[in-house]
Amino acid sequence: MKKKFSSSPKKKNIKRKVVKKSFRGGNQSLITTPDIITGIKPTGSIHLGNYFGAILPLLKISKGKKVFAFVADLHALTNTTIEPETLQKDITHILCAWEACGAGDSNVIVYRQSDYPQITFLQWVLTQHTTLSTLQLGHAYKDATMNKHQTPVLGVLLYPILMSADILISGAGIVPVGQDQVQHIEMARDMARKYNSWVGKNYFIEPKSHVVESEALKGIDGRKMSKSYNNTIPIFGSEEEVRKKIMSIQTGSVPLGKPIQHEDCLVFYFHTKISPAELVSDLRRRYAKGSIGYREAKELLFESFLKYFKKERMKYNELMAQKNIGELLAKKHYNALTVYFDDRLGSIKKLTGFSAT
Ligand code: TRP
Repeated sequence: MKKKFSSSPKKKNIKRKVVKKSFRGGNQSLITTPDIITGIKPTGSIHLGNYFGAILPLLKISKGKKVFAFVADLHALTNTTIEPETLQKDITHILCAWEACGAGDSNVIVYRQSDYPQITFLQWVLTQHTTLSTLQLGHAYKDATMNKHQTPVLGVLLYPILMSADILISGAGIVPVGQDQVQHIEMARDMARKYNSWVGKNYFIEPKSHVVESEALKGIDGRKMSKSYNNTIPIFGSEEEVRKKIMSIQTGSVPLGKPIQHEDCLVFYFHTKISPAELVSDLRRRYAKGSIGYREAKELLFESFLKYFKKERMKYNELMAQKNIGELLAKKHYNALTVYFDDRLGSIKKLTGFSAT
């Protein structure tokens, strides 16, 4: 009873040292407290915007760091119209896409959120350290309430608590996110602080967001590339699919033979992202001279795309041809992670007063 709702003088007595642990699970490799954690919702095909905005920055900052990267399939349920078959397909797609982009070769531990009930257990504990009014400020909840025809499901309201549980159970201190997620990390920090203060021990590290600064990639219609605008270029789509997308990039209407302002051309914009520097400067020259039309620029872009993602696309197709690949990738670290999360939850149960040891 004494411990409850300790006031700030008490907080000063909290030991500043954060508990870090490491385990060897079965014959699997050592799993230690990660430095960084990230989650990605399985919602459709990975596209160029995801690649440059999330995957590449993650692989970059993960050099020399320990990273947990998980498929946030529990979070995907807030889309209540998603069908089980689609969810399953999207989970497998993300796992293969990450593996193909090189997550498996580095020190990134990939897993599937729904395999670890320790996370949802912690979520319940954290619900007691969050107020309704805080949750009502959540941007996803606010957006959902704007739709006058639908009452939002409770999952949308509780989303930030599940996200906090994901982060806090891992012990990671850094969460790379887009600007829209910063608010959720603030809530996680708040929950960590409140819990620590309640139990009188600095158990949870207060996670910090690392905002991925890269400006959002444009889509084929010039707006931000996003699945909801249907303006994406899927990295792992079939050649036909990708070609069709590239050929439908919006352009101006300068007739063939006349100079085109390269700064205003979306096709040129995409070249600067994926074409070799020599090609880009050659194009710049030809745009100015009027010796290239939109169609040829798009054909060249398609070739650049296939070259740029050659290794990744090959690996992805190889993986997808394997039976049961989704389960294999999802469970790659299952034993070691179970030991790790069990230990974390064990400590939480003890601190909370559920168990004596
Ligand atoms: N909410 C994140 C998104 O929509 C996904 C996510 C869920 C996440 N849990 C997380 C991200 C934990 C980082 C850490 O993109």
